[in-house]
Amino acid sequence: MTVENFDPNGTNHSFSLSRRELIKSVIASGVAVSAGSMLVGCGPGSGVQTGGVERLISINVNGKDRRVDVLPQETLANTLRLKLGLTGTKLGCDRGECGACTILVDEVPVYACSTLTHNVRGRKITTVEGLQAPDGSLHPVQQAFVDELGPQCGFCTPGQVMSAVALLNVNPNPTREEARQALSGNLCRCGAYDHYLNGVMRAAREV
Ligand code: FES
Ligand code: FES
Repeated sequence: MTVENFDPNGTNHSFSLSRRELIKSVIASGVAVSAGSMLVGCGPGSGVQTGGVERLISINVNGKDRRVDVLPQETLANTLRLKLGLTGTKLGCDRGECGACTILVDEVPVYACSTLTHNVRGRKITTVEGLQAPDGSLHPVQQAFVDELGPQCGFCTPGQVMSAVALLNVNPNPTREEARQALSGNLCRCGAYDHYLNGVMRAAREV
C-alpha cells in the first residue's frame, strides 16, 4: 500500500481491494498462528511454542512428573486446579492476600495464585493431596486438625494445613506464638484460628 493509493471517497477500487486483502491476510495469518501454536510440537519430545516460550512442560507434583500444556502467564493455582484436577488447592482472593492457595515448593509455603507455573519447573511441588501416606492415613497435621475440630466451612483448611506442615518440617517443636506467625498468611473468614493453632500444637506433640 502506498500514499498514492489513498482515496478518502473509497472510489479507488484497487485500494479498496488491497485493503480488504490486507485485512483478510491479517485475520488469516492470526488464525494460522493460533492454530500453529496449538499444533506445533504436539509430537513426542517436542514442546508447544507460543512467542518463544515452550508450553508443553513437565512439573513435579506430589512426587510425580506431570506433563502439562501451560500458558506463559498461567498461575500454578490454575494449572493445579484446572489442568491437573488437584482442586484441594483453593482459590480465594486470587491475588496473594488470603492464603487459601498455599502449597509447598521445595518445602517452602508459597501462594499458588501468585506463582507462575513456568517458574517452578524442576522444583518439588506438594499440594494437600500429596500429604497422605500410601496406606491412605492422614498426615499428622491433617489428623490433628480433625481431632481439634479445626475447620468450620473448611475453605481455608488446605492452606492452613500446608502452612502448618511447612512449619513442622523445619521446627517440630514450635511455640504457640511461632505457630501463630507461621499461619499468619492464612486468613479464615470463620475465625477458627484458635482451633487451627490447637491443631498445630497437637501435631507437634505427635510427630
Ligand atoms: S487465593 Fe492465593 S492468596 Fe488468596
Ligand atoms: S474454616 Fe471457614 S474460612 Fe476458615
